[in-house]
Amino acid sequence: MRSLIDILELDVTEIKELIDKANDIIANPVKYSEKCRGKKLATLFFEPSTRTRLSFEAAMYELGGNVLGFSEAQSSSAAKGESIADTAKTTSCYADIIAMRHPKEGAPLVAAMNASIPVINAGDGGHNHPTQTLTDLLTIFREKGRLDNLTVGFCGDLKFGRTVHSLINALSRYENIKFVLVSPEELKLPSYVKETLKKNNLEYVQTTDLDSVMPELDILYMTRVQRERFFNEEDYLRLKDSYILRPERLNTAKADLAIMHPLPRVNEISVEIDSDPRACYFKQVLNGKYIRMALILKLLEVE
Ligand code: NCD
Repeated sequence: MRSLIDILELDVTEIKELIDKANDIIANPVKYSEKCRGKKLATLFFEPSTRTRLSFEAAMYELGGNVLGFSEAQSSSAAKGESIADTAKTTSCYADIIAMRHPKEGAPLVAAMNASIPVINAGDGGHNHPTQTLTDLLTIFREKGRLDNLTVGFCGDLKFGRTVHSLINALSRYENIKFVLVSPEELKLPSYVKETLKKNNLEYVQTTDLDSVMPELDILYMTRVQRERFFNEEDYLRLKDSYILRPERLNTAKADLAIMHPLPRVNEISVEIDSDPRACYFKQVLNGKYIRMALILKLLEVE
């Protein structure tokens, strides 16, 4: 029985297998429509979500399975003081696999240690978000045809953005990736993630200036300033509009730049960019369902 708490628990061969599987599902959906007949996915979401929860649920339905769960802590026994461990043991009696999102870093790991079924981390606080990373890797592969030899810009809230942390860790294992980290001083990448870059001798630059690095980028990964992780509202208000991607900013960008964003978007990408062929964020949304289908099949050991 295997869980997915951190993206590094999957090696690069397994990631390629998941990408291949997702591409096969996209090409032949009918082949997979009964694979999880009789199986149940529990979505335990203690934090708001639109894409992650709905894509997990859509993924399970498209595999012929069923879904149960809750979408806010207040409607679960957590509101009465139940521990994560007990919630995980309880859910193990009713479902075959769990997807859990929680505001506390490490909560899905605690669940995995206590559940008797696989647990997938669907985002834990400002820490990790491995299934968003699988979504991002599938998108990069479909857009670029490779996961190596890329200059990847990360822009926005690199401190609290869990999708950034997981994607940097994942990309650190491919050849010739150059990391360009664009953020305000206060929202720089945490040192524990930067350690991964240093330890592996990876090339990275840190800057506050998006325009000066734009021409180099193959991928621009925009992020939202993570309001819910701030200690005070004033700091959030001061930093929230640090970077806004408007069409004129793309004048110096490569013609085949891939603009990505895990969404939700607040202000950081103007809606005029949605019709630019370089905008990939709604493709990411769709890819998220297919890669989660592939992951559910793998963790449930179907086939
Ligand atoms: C992200 C998350 O929850 O970390 N959203 C998502 O899952 N697609 C990004 C965010 O909330 O900014």
